[in-house]
Amino acid sequence: MLFALFILSSLYVSIVNSWGPTGHSLVAKIAQSMLTSNSKKFVQDHLPWYTNGDLSMLASWPDTILYPDTNPVDYLNWQWSLKLHFVNTPDWICNYDRNRDCDWTNEQRCVDGSIQNYTERLANTKQDSIQRQEALKFLVHFIGDIHQPLHAGFSSDKGGNLIKGRFFDNTTNLHSIWDTLMIERRISLDFQSDSNKYYNYLLDIMHTTYMKNISQWSKCPSSDESKYLACSTAWINEDVALNCAFVYRDEQDKPFSVSQQFQLGQIYYNTRIGIVEERLLQSGVRLAAVINKIVELRKHNDKSCPGTVLIAIVLFLEVLLVLICFICYLIRRTFRRQSFGETSDNYHVVKS
Ligand SMILES: *[C@@H]1O[C@H](CO)[C@@H](O)[C@H](O)[C@H]1NC(C)=O
Ligand SMILES: *[C@@H]1O[C@H](CO)[C@@H](O)[C@H](O)[C@H]1NC(C)=O
Ligand SMILES: *[C@@H]1O[C@H](CO)[C@@H](O)[C@H](O)[C@H]1NC(C)=O
Ligand SMILES: [Zn+2]
Repeated sequence: MLFALFILSSLYVSIVNSWGPTGHSLVAKIAQSMLTSNSKKFVQDHLPWYTNGDLSMLASWPDTILYPDTNPVDYLNWQWSLKLHFVNTPDWICNYDRNRDCDWTNEQRCVDGSIQNYTERLANTKQDSIQRQEALKFLVHFIGDIHQPLHAGFSSDKGGNLIKGRFFDNTTNLHSIWDTLMIERRISLDFQSDSNKYYNYLLDIMHTTYMKNISQWSKCPSSDESKYLACSTAWINEDVALNCAFVYRDEQDKPFSVSQQFQLGQIYYNTRIGIVEERLLQSGVRLAAVINKIVELRKHNDKSCPGTVLIAIVLFLEVLLVLICFICYLIRRTFRRQSFGETSDNYHVVKS
């Protein structure tokens, strides 16, 4: 009973720290639909049994652990992970620089470093299974977060959190509009408040409108080669470009400011909801590509494992030996029959 309650609460509590639970769940479901059969098995082996290998069930776990209302017992122990959800970029500079904005080798934590960290840890067979499970749960969430443009927002307004105003009837801030309010509005107006219907719609446009984009989204630009295809630098640069062009501009195209309340409605929604949907799709496609790549590399590593090769060679040699013995036996049998039988003359002929 308590257990069921725990699962339910982790699914339904809403938090304002990243794509809301709906956004994260959509990203995970899109990714799930693109996993290879090997990856599905891998995911099943790396998630708790009660998820039955369903990535979306724990997609918001990294948010739920942070707050006392969802994790009263040890939310304090997880505060170190708060910084892993986002990165800040300088106001209106409109590019991302890893050395300047997220030098994680010098203890500067951010979503770029966390994605590189957890892909590495998930792929690493030397990590124990608990560590790899943690890595997968973080990765599913952070590849979602990194596609919400305001998770790479400007430093002075804390990714839009300090820019306040009204969006239709809601008193809110810019960050929440992008995390949840636009998605909520879309689902309630056009999909009878049923996020499954919305998921089916997203899957549908992915396989039609965006069919040609999928392979390009799944690759890294050459400037950001990553062996696990987690091109986090490129993804953050996409965020920053969107921020400067659309996210941080009001309906008259004027930049938002912390000192002024905004009033946004139909125009902002109509011109930005398409961006939200593209980011959800990209995020799902890329999460699947990363997991598929990691599983493929692990399989490859297993194949070249010296143990297996050695056993195969020994088996092969054994079979060969048995065959040779058998042939020897056959030859000797024929030879004996010949030397003691009617053809003994031939033997002397050959010998001389
Ligand atoms: C990498 O993951 C470990 C384990 O969760 C964590 O302690 C460490 O801070 C992470 N490093 C970065 C750069 O995110
Ligand atoms: C936004 O406003 C609508 C309509 O008033 C309401 O149903 C919804 O719960 C509000 N959302 C938030 C996050 O406050
Ligand atoms: C999808 O592909 C088209 C055609 O190549 C391109 O113009 C468009 O920008 C792409 N969209 C995204 C979101 O990558
Ligand atoms: Zn988050």
